[in-house]
Amino acid sequence: MEIRTMQPADVPLAEKLSDDAFYHAALQSRRDSDPPAGRRSVSRSANWITRTEGFLTTDPDGCFVAYDAEGLAGFATSARREDTLWFLCTFAVRPGLQGQGLGKRLLDAAMAYGADCPHWMLSASDDPKALRRYRLAGFDLHPQLMLHGEVDRSRLVAVDGVREGSAADLDLLDAIDRKVRGAARGRDHTTLAGTGSLLVDVEGGGYAYAADNGPTLLAAIDEETATRLLWECLARTDGEAAMSHVTGANQWALDVGLAARLRIGTEGVLGVRGMAPPAPYIHNGALL
Ligand SMILES: CC(C)(COP(=O)(O)OP(=O)(O)OC[C@H]1O[C@@H](n2cnc3c(N)ncnc32)[C@H](O)[C@@H]1OP(=O)(O)O)[C@@H](O)C(=O)NCCC(=O)NCCS
Repeated sequence: MEIRTMQPADVPLAEKLSDDAFYHAALQSRRDSDPPAGRRSVSRSANWITRTEGFLTTDPDGCFVAYDAEGLAGFATSARREDTLWFLCTFAVRPGLQGQGLGKRLLDAAMAYGADCPHWMLSASDDPKALRRYRLAGFDLHPQLMLHGEVDRSRLVAVDGVREGSAADLDLLDAIDRKVRGAARGRDHTTLAGTGSLLVDVEGGGYAYAADNGPTLLAAIDEETATRLLWECLARTDGEAAMSHVTGANQWALDVGLAARLRIGTEGVLGVRGMAPPAPYIHNGALL
């Protein structure tokens, strides 16, 4: 099967394939205590497509597809920022074709795109095939904890020192990201702005994107700032909260979640090469 770079026409097919692959993987790894496995909603599918089209603009040489007689067989999308950080955005092979070596070829192609980057990140599902692939590719695997449930609003802690952010804050966000994860994000902030409201610490110590179900990203230079930002994100939740990217390096986030009466579960892993799991930090699954 030939592997070639992804083109815009491939994106809707990749969206469908990834939804199928992740849904099947979630059904297989799901425990009774986990939130129910579900398909992507229409709005999340649309966001996925917009985000991936963005990667074809910023990283056309980091996104790969393979086709067989039935259509799209698999793909891997990846990005690099400031020549220091490579990250894997989405990686999936059609259910039924998995476990036969296509994933390795797609991942090898995506990783070749980051070959000269010193730092590498990916956020993985619990699929044992993915975990095997990533460890064999040299990633250190750090289990992710997940905080979920409805925030007990009587426990909310009022915070000050957090304001709404805007495009005028981009230099500040860049400085925080270089310090915490080793590279600024550039255009990825446009995508993140579609996931939630930008919140910024008034002292310039951190920022977060707050969605209805919790932060889609949080980065700070100290735990006190991170804690305040997370409380503000939780205050803005509406219904079920679900924060699934908390590594063991971020115990402060567990303390906030537990104080808000959220439940702790486990979900997936953070894979890193050439770096430690960032902290204080709650990464974004596709934009890390
Ligand atoms: C992860 C994924 C993209 C990998 O693609 P793939 O084509 O299955 O990958 P490969 O066949 O190259 O590699 C799978 C490895 O797991 C092994 N494997 C196969 N079935 C397995 C199983 N049930 N449990 C554990 N390992 C298994 C394979 O033998 C292979 O290892 P090897 O190369 O040492 O022999 C694909 O399985 C998938 O789409 N999974 C669901 C979505 C997902 O989790 N994506 C990753 C998100 S981070």
